[in-house]
Amino acid sequence: MSFLTPTCRRLVAAAIPLAMLSLGACGDAQTDSVQVGYRGTAMEQNYDHGDLKAKFAQVKIPTPLPPAGESPPGPLPWQNVQVLNDISVGEFNRTMVAMSTWVAGTGNCAYCHNIANLASDTLPNGKPLYTKLVARRMLQMTRQINGQYSQHVKNTGVTCYTCHMGKPLPNGLWFYSSQTDYLRHYLDRDGARVVTQQVTPTNMNRSSVKQTEWTYALMMSQSRSLGVNCTYCHNSRQFASWKEAPPARVTAYHGILMLRDVNQNYLSPLQPVYPAVRLGAQGDAPKAQCVTCHNGAYKPLYGAQMVKDYPALWGRADWNGVPFQGLGMPADTATAATDSTAKLATPALPLVKASSSAAPATGAASVGTGNMNRP
Ligand code: HEC
Ligand code: HEC
Ligand code: HEC
Ligand code: HEC
Repeated sequence: MSFLTPTCRRLVAAAIPLAMLSLGACGDAQTDSVQVGYRGTAMEQNYDHGDLKAKFAQVKIPTPLPPAGESPPGPLPWQNVQVLNDISVGEFNRTMVAMSTWVAGTGNCAYCHNIANLASDTLPNGKPLYTKLVARRMLQMTRQINGQYSQHVKNTGVTCYTCHMGKPLPNGLWFYSSQTDYLRHYLDRDGARVVTQQVTPTNMNRSSVKQTEWTYALMMSQSRSLGVNCTYCHNSRQFASWKEAPPARVTAYHGILMLRDVNQNYLSPLQPVYPAVRLGAQGDAPKAQCVTCHNGAYKPLYGAQMVKDYPALWGRADWNGVPFQGLGMPADTATAATDSTAKLATPALPLVKASSSAAPATGAASVGTGNMNRP
């Protein structure tokens, strides 16, 4: 009965009938062991049922909004729409409503809009409306992540909620400082390395005490961001070996490449748009890291597939085989639109998995069609 806690063991000894009752309550103390590497190499991840249940309970996943209704016929009525110009009016409005709770938290359009003129990018006093300008870039970024980085985000994908979780400022924002130097890996440094591959000192050999310190700081932050230990991604007998590592390490590497793109091409360039209060001590824009999406979970929101209900954010030609119902599709398939929208909007059960196995193979990632607006 080694799986029982000491309290449970005492109960079992005290009275069998009582123990039979209390066993149910002790069930949560059980652990699951999932093998992530070769047999005999002690590469197991242990999951505590009680812990996991408590963590899942903390995650709030908004119910998907009802499917978009019929859109009025005729051309799109918008005056200043630069990204979401490939979706129907109904789907557009639905996405706006979702963004109001995902990001602003309040359901309030005024967080991003000049209510007197929804098309305007400036306030009534003529000052730029930075929240709207940032949000437009965020729409492009979200499409880029879902469309171009399916090797990382798979069919789970991301929405604004993945990072924002109902508030304007996501977790894990970072700025330049000596304390965050190791996070430059997610910006412009390549190849976190400790073990040198060369004997002679050359320009290629960057192995140093400083580099080692950064690598370990980076690795600890990755572990914390995902709520896992080092063996989730490494065989600890040889940290450097890719061959002996679980597949999660390769997924993580695609995550690094994705973050570099996100930080370099989307977040940092927003610097001139933000008000001074949002910038760091050195005047740089807020940047993201693993925890910004993962928030302590091995998969963001424990794998809930929120984005499949919001085609405006897909950035790919289909999601789980359901085609993107854009405006550019041939007229004779237009009637199929209502059917598949209805199917799309059936409430999503949060997909909760305790193991890293059975990740859908998306090697041949589908890349969006011509009408998918991309930066
Ligand atoms: C998180 C920021 C954000 C929130 C909240 C938000 N919007 Fe928007 N809205 C935008 C952005 C960004 C655009 C421009 C999209 C583009 O360029 O593709 C836009 C464009 C629009 C437009 C098109 C205007 C035009 O003619 O150019 C309408 C209408 C609109 N929003 C309505 C709403 C409504 C109604 C709400 C509240 C339910 C809302 N929005 C909440 C960011 C937001
Ligand atoms: C990969 C994570 C990520 C995703 C996905 C994401 N954002 Fe952001 N967002 C950020 C970061 C990082 C910031 C910078 C925070 C700040 O403003 O200090 C930010 C800032 C913003 C701001 C400015 C908030 C403020 O008050 O300064 C708005 C508005 C915004 N995002 C809207 C959106 C919308 C709309 C979506 C979905 C289309 C979205 N975001 C998706 C990471 C993300
Ligand atoms: C989420 C997956 C993940 C976790 C968790 C993780 N690592 Fe890593 N680790 C990687 C990836 C990916 C690289 C390669 C990074 C690169 O090439 O830029 C790496 C590289 C390394 C290296 C450099 C190896 C070399 O070639 O010199 C060391 C050392 C290392 N990790 C140690 C650790 C330690 C110690 C922990 C636990 C504190 C840890 N890692 C946790 C994914 C992970
Ligand atoms: C833009 C959001 C986002 C960012 C940033 C991000 N991830 Fe992920 N990550 C995801 C999503 C979504 C999944 C779920 C994919 C799936 O369903 O298998 C995921 C899955 C993973 C997995 C696979 C987990 C498993 O059990 O199969 C690993 C490992 C991982 N991420 C590591 C990282 C690391 C390390 C970083 C930072 C370098 C990072 N991620 C940054 C969104 C993100």
